[in-house]
Amino acid sequence: MESDPMSRRTRRLVPLSQRAVPETVRARMHAPLVVVLGSPAEVVNLLRAGDGAEAVCYQMDLYQAERLREALAKANINAKVTTAPDLWDLPAEFQTAIYMPARGGERELKIDVIEQAFHVLRPGGALVVWSSYETDPFFPSLLKKVFGRPHEVRTEINTVLWAPRAGDRPRRRHEVTFQARVLDGPSCRFVSRPGVFTYGRFDDGARALAETAALKPGDRVLDLGCGCGVAGVFASRQTGPEGHIAFVDSNVRAVALTDLNARANGVTSFQAVASSRVEGLEGGPFDVALANPPYIADHSVARLFIERARELLRPRGRFYLVTKQPEPVAELVADTFGAVDGVPRRGYTILVA
Ligand SMILES: C[S@@+](CC[C@H](N)C(=O)[O-])C[C@H]1O[C@@H](n2cnc3c(N)ncnc32)[C@H](O)[C@@H]1O
Repeated sequence: MESDPMSRRTRRLVPLSQRAVPETVRARMHAPLVVVLGSPAEVVNLLRAGDGAEAVCYQMDLYQAERLREALAKANINAKVTTAPDLWDLPAEFQTAIYMPARGGERELKIDVIEQAFHVLRPGGALVVWSSYETDPFFPSLLKKVFGRPHEVRTEINTVLWAPRAGDRPRRRHEVTFQARVLDGPSCRFVSRPGVFTYGRFDDGARALAETAALKPGDRVLDLGCGCGVAGVFASRQTGPEGHIAFVDSNVRAVALTDLNARANGVTSFQAVASSRVEGLEGGPFDVALANPPYIADHSVARLFIERARELLRPRGRFYLVTKQPEPVAELVADTFGAVDGVPRRGYTILVA
């Protein structure tokens, strides 16, 4: 009988959350333990194998942290979930740090995690990387650079690397500063860091939004899902010193960066708030809301931004949302605001209500 030609070319990719935790990882789960990032399913799967080792789970995004708390509670796992702009904001008291990098995830974020993990380990504490690649293309040389030569165990489906912390090293940030301008306005400078939209460049969708939004001196502006703060900072160039910008994002590193970028660009009246539900904003009602929501199949974040904008805007306040999926998102805007216009620009559509 002939074998199926597909079976020679394809191999089922089992996510880390469904794999047995390798013995090499289990044997190194010594408390106090920090689990760095990871999806709720991956972290639960890992900690189930850990014989109740006292664990802290570090996350950068409040929404993801809430989902993780729920998943841990459901699995009856007693672990603390904490968010901070930087992993090295946690005290250097961990015996083990475990990182399960996202397959194909952001390269700069991986470098940043390895650099920062060094600083939260006790002397002699170890970083363990559980990679879903049978031959990991990336981490051996990176760990060697930061920790010295790592130990490596490969199986048919996993690579596990681990390395102890020895001595000290200076903190190195993987940040990139970029300069941008909108139309013939003044140039602004933004610091960007891994894990925050967008790293090292001004996104075309953000640019299209900034070019389209009509703002007046004194306007009070909401920047929904602010990333590193580009939309609100450019808005402040038009609203002037009498205006006010309320930035909000669920990613706590994004909010820290926005604070830094708003100050550095001379925005005098602003607040930068970390929230996954667009809550905690003062200074409303607002005149204008700007949104560049992430692309998620169910449009849940776009829906959240639309609904919260409707509640926070004054009557006849203006709403601008940039998207590459104008039909389904326009329907959501129309459901909430009653009517919507679409302005095509740079391959995007800016929905205006
Ligand atoms: C496409 S990025 C836009 C960033 C920035 N406004 C820009 O245009 O460069 C979307 C942003 O929405 C944020 N976000 C996602 N879900 C959120 C939520 N539930 N609440 C607040 N912000 C959220 C992400 O962290 C991300 O920074």
